[in-house]
Amino acid sequence: MSEEIHIGATLAELGVSLPEHDRALLVTDSNVQRLLPEILRGTMLDELPVAVIEDGEENKTLDSAAHLWREMQRHGLTRSSIVVNVGGGMVTDIGGFAAATYKRGLRFVNVATTLLGAVDASVGGKTGIDFDGHKNQVGVFAETSATYVPLHAFSTLPREQLLSGFGEVLKTAYIGAPELLPQLLETEELNPEAMAKTVATCLRVKSEIVEQDPHEHGLRKVLNLGHTAGHAFESLALRRGRPVPHGIAIAQGLLTALILSHTQLDMPSAHIYSYAEMLRRLFPAVPFTCDDYPELLALIRADKKNVADQIRFTLLPTPGDALPDQTVPEKALETALDITRDLLGL
Ligand SMILES: NC(=O)c1ccc[n+]([C@@H]2O[C@H](COP(=O)([O-])OP(=O)(O)OC[C@H]3O[C@@H](n4cnc5c(N)ncnc54)[C@H](O)[C@@H]3O)[C@@H](O)[C@H]2O)c1
Ligand SMILES: [Zn+2]
Repeated sequence: MSEEIHIGATLAELGVSLPEHDRALLVTDSNVQRLLPEILRGTMLDELPVAVIEDGEENKTLDSAAHLWREMQRHGLTRSSIVVNVGGGMVTDIGGFAAATYKRGLRFVNVATTLLGAVDASVGGKTGIDFDGHKNQVGVFAETSATYVPLHAFSTLPREQLLSGFGEVLKTAYIGAPELLPQLLETEELNPEAMAKTVATCLRVKSEIVEQDPHEHGLRKVLNLGHTAGHAFESLALRRGRPVPHGIAIAQGLLTALILSHTQLDMPSAHIYSYAEMLRRLFPAVPFTCDDYPELLALIRADKKNVADQIRFTLLPTPGDALPDQTVPEKALETALDITRDLLGL
C-alpha cells in the first residue's frame, strides 16, 4: 500500500509534511472544529482554510459532499491541490470521497481523531457517503497519501466513542494479531495515549489484508469479523430508539462470532469465556431477548455477504486465522444468540 502511516502523541511531534501542492483545504466536522486549535498546535496546518460539515453520521450525505465541493471551488483548488481531513471516520469517509471525485481526484491526507477512525476508517481506501438511508451506498476506492494518528486527540473522546474504537481494535486482534489479546482482554480502563503499539499493529493488520484484496473480492471480508451479528444488534438498537456506537455493537457481535467459531469450527471454548468476561467488565450490553430473534435473523439474512439464502459468517478455528464465508445453520445461530444472552446476563 502506498499510504504512509504516522502515529505519535501530537501532530507537532509527528511533524506533518504535506506532499507538494499549490493549495490545501482542511475538512472537518463542527465538533472537531472546536478542538482544532489544540490538535493542530505547533503545525503549519493551522494556517489552512477550513471547510466544515455538521457532525454526526446523519450528515454523511450528498448535501454535505456538495458543500465540500463548493468550498473546494471557492478556495480555487486544482488537480495539484491537497485536502486534509481532520476527524473521525465520518470526516475521513466524506472528505476522502469529496476529494477523490473533485476534478476527477485530488490527493488527500487523513488525520484520525477517533480511535475507530485510527484503526479502521482512516486507512484501506474506502471513501463514501450514505444515500437514501443506505450506509456507504455511494463512494469510490481512493487511497490517502498519508494517515496521521495524534493519540493525544483521543483524550477528548467521550468514553463510548473510545469503547467503540476498542471494539474494532479487538476485532482486528482476533483477525490478525492474537499476540495482543492477553493484554487487551485484561484491560481495566482505556488509556488511548498508551495505545501507540496497539494502534500501529491494528493498522498493519488492516493494511496487509487490504493490500492483498484492495477491492473486496474475497480475503478483505475477514475484516467483517463480528459484523454480521454486530450490524444486526446495531440496527435493532436503532429501531428500538436506543442507538449505540457502531463498535460497541460489533464488540457484542464478536462474542456471537466466537461462540459460533466454537460450535462450528471447534475453536477452544476458553476464548469465549475470557472475551465475555472483558465484555461484561468494559462494555454496555446491547439488549435483546428471544422475542427479538425473528427480527435479528431477518437482519442477518439481509446482510450483503450472504448468498442464496445461506447465512454466512467470518469465523475463527483459532484466533489469528479468520475464515470468511462460513455457512451457519439457522439453528446454530439461534443457539449462539442464546449463549450470547446467557454470558451477558440478558
Ligand atoms: N472507510 C472505512 O474503511 C471505514 C471503516 C470503518 C468505519 N467507517 C466509517 O466511519 C464512521 C464512524 O467513525 P467514527 O466512529 O470515528 O465516527 P465520527 O467521525 O462520526 O466521530 C464520532 C463523534 O466523535 C466526534 N469526535 C471526533 N474526534 C473527536 C475528538 N478527538 N474528541 C471528541 N470528539 C471527537 C465527532 O465529531 C463525532 O461526533 C462511519 O461513517 C463509518 O461508516 C469507514
Ligand atoms: Zn466496523
